Amino acid sequence: MYLEFYGLKENPFNVTSDPNFLYLSHTHKEALDHLLYGINHRKGFIEITGEIGAGKTTICRALLNQLGSKTKTSFILNSNLPEIQLLEAILNDFGIAPERRSKGAFLRQLNRFLLEQLSRGNNAVLIIDEAQNLRSSTLEAVRLLSNIETEKEKLLQIVLVGQPQLRNKLNSPELLQLRQRISVRFHIRALERNEVQQYIEHRLNVAGPAGGTTFTPGAIDHIYQYSRGVPRIINVVCDKALLLGFVRGTRSIEHDLIRKCIEELEGQFDLDIT
Ligand SMILES: Nc1ncnc2c1ncn2[C@@H]1O[C@H](COP(=O)(O)OP(=O)(O)O)[C@@H](O)[C@H]1O
Ligand SMILES: [Mg+2]
Repeated sequence: MYLEFYGLKENPFNVTSDPNFLYLSHTHKEALDHLLYGINHRKGFIEITGEIGAGKTTICRALLNQLGSKTKTSFILNSNLPEIQLLEAILNDFGIAPERRSKGAFLRQLNRFLLEQLSRGNNAVLIIDEAQNLRSSTLEAVRLLSNIETEKEKLLQIVLVGQPQLRNKLNSPELLQLRQRISVRFHIRALERNEVQQYIEHRLNVAGPAGGTTFTPGAIDHIYQYSRGVPRIINVVCDKALLLGFVRGTRSIEHDLIRKCIEELEGQFDLDIT
């Protein structure tokens, strides 16, 4: 592929969420700070929203890397599970082997686990990604998990991560009790123009260092307009741009090349022979 041509060790613009490539833009840093604050101060429910590709899962993974060994975590990526399977997945990810397959047994085991963590001075966090997919009944079951608390402290911190529809869902009348418990909220916004540039440079440096590979200001402008600052879309365009640069034998990625990439991505065919 094009890696050797640019002197890169790995693909800089993969669309999987790899925390090694983390670029802490203002909004991503704020998201992480809100998460750390809510968890370390045992605030109970935390809500993180953002558009598809905004960096929600990436921030969760970065969070997991930052929490020390005294914080036990369960990270649920598949929110489409029915309640009992969700409970089982939560236990499994905490590292608890389920004893008996029933809702009551799962809840008792979780309760015991949380009390044990408290007695050791530990904290526990449940993160549910793509939480906008949870059924209202399942969300209500998740709320009941947060009832496991002592008089003074929340034993389980619950982070709901989702697309902006999550907010609407939580606004429905049957979830009023859950909504009232959310004490920390943050919306990850898109990147600004200068952040798009820094983001691209950062990813190239992590994968490289790709000395000599440049995205011109015109190219960045175009990527910014097309992607509206959404990291996932930036990655898709930049990956294609590096491929096309390689085909053309240039390490200078310019406006015209980005225009071509976007046309291809949009499924248009350019009849100009250039
Ligand atoms: N702050 C960031 N630093 C580095 N890469 C990021 C960042 N935010 C998003 N990305 C990249 O953008 C893509 C989409 O991010 P992801 O976390 O999967 O978004 P979401 O979960 O919001 O849909 C991934 O390739 C991810 O690596
Ligand atoms: Mg995600």
